[in-house]
Amino acid sequence: MASRSFAPSGPLTGTLPTAPDKSISHRAALLAAMAVGTSTVEGYLLGEDTLSTLRVLEQLGAGIRREGSTVEITGMGLRGAAETSEVLDVGNSGTLMRLVSGWLSGQAGRSWQLDGDRSIRSRPMGRIAVPLGQMGAEFELSDGRPPFLLKGASLSGINWISDVASAQVKSAILLAGLLADGPSSVTESPTSRDHTERMLIEQGADLTRQRLQDGSTRVEIKPADDLASVDRSIPGDPSSAAFLLLAAVLVEGSEITVSGVNLNPERTGFFRLLAKMGADISGYEAPPEDFGRISKEPVGDVSARSSSLVGITVGAEEIPAAVDEITLLALAGCFASGTTRVSGAGELKVKETDRIAGVVQLISALGGTIEATEDGFVVTGTGDLRGGTIDSLGDHRLAMLGAVAGLASEQGVTVTDFGAADVSYPGFIADISRLA
Ligand code: S3P
Repeated sequence: MASRSFAPSGPLTGTLPTAPDKSISHRAALLAAMAVGTSTVEGYLLGEDTLSTLRVLEQLGAGIRREGSTVEITGMGLRGAAETSEVLDVGNSGTLMRLVSGWLSGQAGRSWQLDGDRSIRSRPMGRIAVPLGQMGAEFELSDGRPPFLLKGASLSGINWISDVASAQVKSAILLAGLLADGPSSVTESPTSRDHTERMLIEQGADLTRQRLQDGSTRVEIKPADDLASVDRSIPGDPSSAAFLLLAAVLVEGSEITVSGVNLNPERTGFFRLLAKMGADISGYEAPPEDFGRISKEPVGDVSARSSSLVGITVGAEEIPAAVDEITLLALAGCFASGTTRVSGAGELKVKETDRIAGVVQLISALGGTIEATEDGFVVTGTGDLRGGTIDSLGDHRLAMLGAVAGLASEQGVTVTDFGAADVSYPGFIADISRLA
């Protein structure tokens, strides 16, 4: 449980790339394993979560050759996942557990045991087990949480109306839909990140997307015989860039640029919210796209300068595009004038930790004024933050939030169990040191 201290920082300056996108790395590896032939992934995220994905895919029969961050993956085809008596250990990764379950659901006559770390054992799997179960797969779950036994089956298509805007749920159903006996669809509102859709289209899947009259999004997928292999290079993760950019906004005299960031509009909500708070942040708007004709991910450079902030009110519609960065809004809110209110963010309770309880505990321990609400929090800004010692609670994003808080605080912040950051951003300390 190594701890790290982050002293109040002088100006952060410079240009650098951030960690490769975690969501896209997971999918690039999984979709390559599901394809026919060999795919090369360049700039794969070497975080603990995405390394778990490579290990699990190897257990399922994929050929994996890794040299640095370049990974060559030879697929088994859509229906070729190998059975194994070993447990598939997803570590800390909910994305891996839910997406791989979608694929394995359609492997008729084969079964797998899935498990992960302590955090995974507290995360709800009913949200995938119910739709995938209706399609025909069998999940043996106790209390709706891992570990579980998954029995693949010949699947029927499904038209699923999701009661939660979750890319993990949507992706699990779409991947299963490739193996069903007819078309499947997922309808959700608001729209969650669409990487799976973009990547499946690139690999030749028959997938269409439309905006319905009530504003929800419907994605339809047709069954396929196979997926084509595609070479990819992974863009920077906007969720990782968020820590660096917020640090620049909060630390006086700073001006930084994060290069090569994924600008998918379903991922850049935090940058829009920061701009609404008055932050001097630019470059995060992707060129307009036709909603029904998504293709490759937009990528660009995002810059931020130290700025004075004002409190804002954030509601349910704005959560999915910023879901992993909402806790950072609480930190930004401490440095703003006025009140920052977040509601409609109940999903944060079922992330790697209960992030509403977690961020309230952390910010309070550092001298901030924050209160939890039923589905969010309210922060009273004072323009500064004292500092102190906090525990990451084993959550990578809370560990890095503590670090950013330290750089901008009056007295610095010590984060115990800072190693949790390696789940998504193993180079975080090195990148902060370069900017400082
Ligand atoms: C992810 C989707 C999000 C996000 C997670 C990664 C993904 O979860 O919180 O870190 O890669 O699909 P939900 O879409 O389930 O909220």
